[in-house]
Amino acid sequence: MTEQTPVTDTKAVKVPTLPDAQTVTQVQHYTDRLFSFKCTRPASLRFRSGEFVMIGLMGDPHPETGKQKPLLRAYSIASPSWDEELEFYSIKVQDGPLTSKLQHIQPGDEIILRPKPVGTLVHDALIPGKRIWFFATGTGFAPFASLLREPQTYEDYDEVIITHTCREAGELTYGHDIIESLKTDELLNEVIGEGFWKKIKYYPTTTREESAKMGRITDLINSGEAYADLGVEPLNPDNDRAMICGNLAFNLELKDMLEAAGLEEGANSKPAQYVVEKAFLD
Ligand code: A2P
Repeated sequence: MTEQTPVTDTKAVKVPTLPDAQTVTQVQHYTDRLFSFKCTRPASLRFRSGEFVMIGLMGDPHPETGKQKPLLRAYSIASPSWDEELEFYSIKVQDGPLTSKLQHIQPGDEIILRPKPVGTLVHDALIPGKRIWFFATGTGFAPFASLLREPQTYEDYDEVIITHTCREAGELTYGHDIIESLKTDELLNEVIGEGFWKKIKYYPTTTREESAKMGRITDLINSGEAYADLGVEPLNPDNDRAMICGNLAFNLELKDMLEAAGLEEGANSKPAQYVVEKAFLD
């Protein structure tokens, strides 16, 4: 008698083994420093485009007790509030406590997601204006990946300017692909209006590798070069609203520049002309 091959049902629902477990559905690597991934969305999770949640993995077992603790970090949700799945954009730090492990996740793996979204990069924290600027460095693009796919962005503003400064050209790919995808997104073109993406002015720059536009956005604005390239009027508090998300030094420098231009910082409890949030690094 021949041995029977065991039948494995690949469609069987996996029992979550982690607290607040979500299942990874897709992973894409961009450079040796950057990757993005998608996971299932808890049915109860409601969030506003631009907010962040705590996500992570179980840490290594304690050498004596064998107990494991969750290792969590704040991550902006890169997908818009209406999406069925959640998307995240992450740095890979080879000796980072979380991202040294997270960079190896595969579809089918589980991550921990605490379903308590918070954050200041939300439309509710801004008063009405004509033009919105999204200023990002590195993985600080993530909340804007959400807001660029959020219909309210185009309902609230006539013009959407997104600047992204990275060290190398390959680090611009994620943002570039998101913006390109808007042009052929049938659902968004139907819901927001055909050609809504024409409101976007995209200004990617690099600082350490040759690309079409080199330099820090802060310098390019101060010199007036960015305004000339984009064909727009300089920042002014009557028309302009802004959101900043990047490394700490960048956030502080841009904050000063916006204040000098006459814009005031807003918050959920007191909406004003700009908001800022740190891109969280491992
Ligand atoms: P630079 O290469 O000149 O430091 P990081 O990967 O270190 O977070 O940096 C992401 C991008 O942000 C880099 O292109 C970096 O430029 C730029 N950057 C860092 N600090 C500032 C700042 N204070 N103002 C503008 N851009 C900055």
